[in-house]
Amino acid sequence: MKPLSRQLNILTLMHEDLVPPASLEGLTEKDIQPWKMEYDVSATLEQLGHKVHPLGIYGDLGDLADALDRVKPDIVFNMMEEFDGHGPYDQHLVSFLELRRVRYTGCNPRGLTLARDKALSIKILAYHRIPVPAFAVFKAGGKPRRPARLAFPLLVKSLYVEGSVGISRASVVRDEAALAERVELIHRQTGSPAIAEEYIEGREIYVGLMGNERLQASTPLELVLEHLPEGAPNIATSRLKWDYAHQAKMGMQTKPAELAPEARRHLEQLSKRIYRALCLSGYARLDFRLAADGRFFLLEANPNPCLTYGEDFAEAAHLSALEYPGLLDRILRLGLNYRGVW
Ligand SMILES: Nc1ncnc2c1ncn2[C@@H]1O[C@H](COP(=O)(O)OP(=O)(O)O)[C@@H](O)[C@H]1O
Ligand SMILES: [Mg+2]
Repeated sequence: MKPLSRQLNILTLMHEDLVPPASLEGLTEKDIQPWKMEYDVSATLEQLGHKVHPLGIYGDLGDLADALDRVKPDIVFNMMEEFDGHGPYDQHLVSFLELRRVRYTGCNPRGLTLARDKALSIKILAYHRIPVPAFAVFKAGGKPRRPARLAFPLLVKSLYVEGSVGISRASVVRDEAALAERVELIHRQTGSPAIAEEYIEGREIYVGLMGNERLQASTPLELVLEHLPEGAPNIATSRLKWDYAHQAKMGMQTKPAELAPEARRHLEQLSKRIYRALCLSGYARLDFRLAADGRFFLLEANPNPCLTYGEDFAEAAHLSALEYPGLLDRILRLGLNYRGVW
């Protein structure tokens, strides 16, 4: 794709608490961290010559409607991961943009819906004979009754709350008592149903993809924990995702996954099949476990993953020779080219 030559009027849509200041002067890394993606995206779109109008919203659709009327954007750069504090509402926000016939970056509402619910994704992929963990869903109220076919060890997490909320090493459970305890913790901590999945022992691999019709996969990355204590599970706990000191202690790195050429080709094809089966568009990151028998199990699909400069998605693009401004340019183009029903 050729870079966009035309200047666009872009509404950058983000959570109201994450609207970045115009300059980073005098701020520490810790100050910047919460809204670094919003800053990196806005600053880079401006460098690309576009007119950027930042909009922070929380739970009032009227704010978005007013801004659309005022700015009349060529495209909305969507960085919302929730609406009114609820993750699953992000799909409705994008539906609103579709109904207003406004172009937007990232995933379409159907893809957001299918990927958000981990049980629903697994059911669809199982139909396509793609390796996925066996699972059961437990809603709040009543003791979790484990189906006989679902064998320990299991990993217990939220059905749809992201960011490893409620996931620690103790999330890998080996008996009924621990299962009940973790299910209850998920209900309490996330206010969402729990999903208990077959624990897939193996390497943790991430694949970034972009596209609507024609898809491109970036270099797969592997989560490596060089100082993981003996016997501890190599999982991405919430502490590992959010606590820098803990990352350093565990010797955490995400680096290009060393895979045989055959396995890499297979993973790329599999990733594209998953992307299509879940009706994704724009860009997404897929989280896999590579089991000892060589099968890649999909854990979850993340449409609209984090775009912070230097972090996983952007880093994988860089390893595939797509630099940050080029990455955002391509995301804009995919948004402009996406054909909604209208
Ligand atoms: N079935 C599973 N088997 C092994 N590890 C798992 C499984 N499910 C989740 N995990 C671990 O927990 C992490 C977070 O789970 P994930 O489904 O990706 O949720 P999130 O949306 O919080 O990223 C994964 O990156 C992986 O390390
Ligand atoms: Mg994940």
